[in-house]
Amino acid sequence: MLIFNKKDLLQKHLTPYLQANSPIGFVPTMGALHKGHLALMEQSVSQNAITVVSIFVNPTQFNNPEDLDKYPRTLDADAAKIATLSDAIIIFAPSVDEMYEGHTQSEHYSFDGLENQMEGAHRPGHFDGVGTIVSKLFDIVKPTNAYFGEKDFQQLQIVKKLVQKNHMPINIIGCPISREANGLAMSSRNERLSADEKQGAAFIYKTLLEARDKFKNEAIPTVIQYVEKAFASHPEFKPDYFEIAREDTLEPATLKENAKYRAFVAVFLGNVRLIDNISLN
Ligand code: PAJ
Repeated sequence: MLIFNKKDLLQKHLTPYLQANSPIGFVPTMGALHKGHLALMEQSVSQNAITVVSIFVNPTQFNNPEDLDKYPRTLDADAAKIATLSDAIIIFAPSVDEMYEGHTQSEHYSFDGLENQMEGAHRPGHFDGVGTIVSKLFDIVKPTNAYFGEKDFQQLQIVKKLVQKNHMPINIIGCPISREANGLAMSSRNERLSADEKQGAAFIYKTLLEARDKFKNEAIPTVIQYVEKAFASHPEFKPDYFEIAREDTLEPATLKENAKYRAFVAVFLGNVRLIDNISLN
């Protein structure tokens, strides 16, 4: 398992692939890997000559310093998990200084309004941080294909917009949400839930499935009311938002048009903030 900490050494390793036009797959992560991350890597391995997995807890995308502090850093365990997958994966695990060179700050981005919805509205500066680090990483790795999970659907749409607006020659590939057996979307944050909370958190996906079912025959405000009532009857959950939005604009919807819709939820269980989403049509 090759682990690079320096961008120039990583680039040296990748040069022959670029010169031979061999596809380079890229899976950016913040580590604390779970099966959802590994599924992205498996897809990349099946479609590319080599896969780069970055493991970097990006300080500029955390609006809450405590969240950044608490974020698990488990490089050895992560490398061991990746080693079981394939020889065609290499790891890029840079330091904060290697990525930011003393300027640990975000660029400011406009993503045509995508950044003002949901996670953008509730986590100020978050998508500037994501845009900054993803741009830096794309610049270093120069991937052919980059893989992002639908778990963070807004992030996926924003990265597609970043690439489109900056004419970057990279295919952005969205991958389905990996779930626990009880339906809970896999997340590094689930490790902070007790066994009971993990079990109870199945309620989130169950409610999203009900929303999808109701969406077939009911008006959007009726579906939203139903979900808000469902969460209100489970006071252990403190919803941050529940929204139904078009996939392309992510603007909250009230009327059904000829478009693809998704339901999005962010909810606190104890002090752990969980997000999930589901395609509605
Ligand atoms: P991280 O939260 O580590 O997630 C890395 C990638 O794994 C993201 O594309 C995320 O959507 C995907 N992922 C996480 N849980 C998933 C699940 N249950 N099913 C499918 N995919 C899942 O997202 C980030 O890191 C960062 O913002 C990053 C893009 C690396 C920039 O710092």
